[in-house]
Amino acid sequence: MANDDDRLNLVQRLAEKQARKDDRPLSERAADKLADASPPAPTPSAQNAVVPPATPAASPSVDTASKYSSAKTPKSTDSAKGGAAKNNYFDIDLPRLQLAGYITPNAQETRLGEEYRTIKRPLLLKAFGAEKSRIPNGNVVLVTSARPGEGKTFTALNLAMSIATERDLHVLLIDADVYKHELCSRLGVPNDHGLVDLLIDESIDVPDVMIRTNIANLTVLPAGTRHPSSPELLASQRMAAFMQDLGARYPDRIIIIDAPPILASSEPGVLALLVGQIIMVVESGKTDRNTLEQSLALISNCPNINFVLNKSANTFGSGQYSAYTYYDEYRNFS
Ligand SMILES: Nc1ncnc2c1ncn2[C@@H]1O[C@H](COP(=O)(O)OP(=O)(O)OP(=O)(O)O)[C@@H](O)[C@H]1O
Ligand SMILES: [Mg+2]
Repeated sequence: MANDDDRLNLVQRLAEKQARKDDRPLSERAADKLADASPPAPTPSAQNAVVPPATPAASPSVDTASKYSSAKTPKSTDSAKGGAAKNNYFDIDLPRLQLAGYITPNAQETRLGEEYRTIKRPLLLKAFGAEKSRIPNGNVVLVTSARPGEGKTFTALNLAMSIATERDLHVLLIDADVYKHELCSRLGVPNDHGLVDLLIDESIDVPDVMIRTNIANLTVLPAGTRHPSSPELLASQRMAAFMQDLGARYPDRIIIIDAPPILASSEPGVLALLVGQIIMVVESGKTDRNTLEQSLALISNCPNINFVLNKSANTFGSGQYSAYTYYDEYRNFS
């Protein structure tokens, strides 16, 4: 098992390797990075104080809830109970979310918050930076991983929360895990209708299924009704048009998509074509080289893949589990 020094050395080596512009295939370089990664220490921590929720945003006027069928929300230890979304508005229980170990706006400074600052900066640069750093469709970001449970939803949610604390940025968080819709469950947001319904029923318009929240800069698009053809729906022309429309309709928003795992579903491969950036979550000490290479091959349609090494022991020496120790990015690898 690697100790803290080994991990620091690993980060240093990888940074040097990146600086030398290693021209081997992306999958090989990424797999190299993970070779020394250690498994997580066992105890998660959620030590933040509880803070009052942010001021609720004004409710929008559209009420479309009765137009759609409903789907059941699965139980999860991380999950909140979903209440009703009235007028496409939902009050997220921020103290509960914070106690579960997530970043929330206005909470006191945490290590996790600091780590997500590091993670979001390069993404935001590619989305909204100066012309030379911006990339096409850079404001549309897919979060995925090779296998289940590596931390996609944890990452998507924390990233969204971190960006929502930026005063002048708005986040649209899309639950594209149409099997589990765990993002909605974790936020407590009802999953009565959403992305799948949009794709099935052409009479539904995007704002009809968006849910505004008590975080003024955060809107959620739930996964929606379960449908046996969800993979085909996500691969459809309508989905491609929807994503294009989103990017154009909300150019000032960062759109974060929580996806299922690459090796368990076809959706990430399809969605990779439609987004500007991907965050590939890699669970420390768990994802092996072959698994990673296979996964990267399936999302290689997206030229901007960023890696988050999750659940590693932290670099600050406290030995606590829950930190991200490493973040890197690869560009234009094709
Ligand atoms: N860095 C972390 N620190 C503490 N807990 C974490 C961390 N990352 C993930 N977890 C926890 O690990 C579990 C799995 O995480 P998560 O649900 O985000 O994975 P996932 O990749 O979205 O899973 P799935 O493939 O089932 O959608 C959750 O209970 C989550 O709270
Ligand atoms: Mg998930």
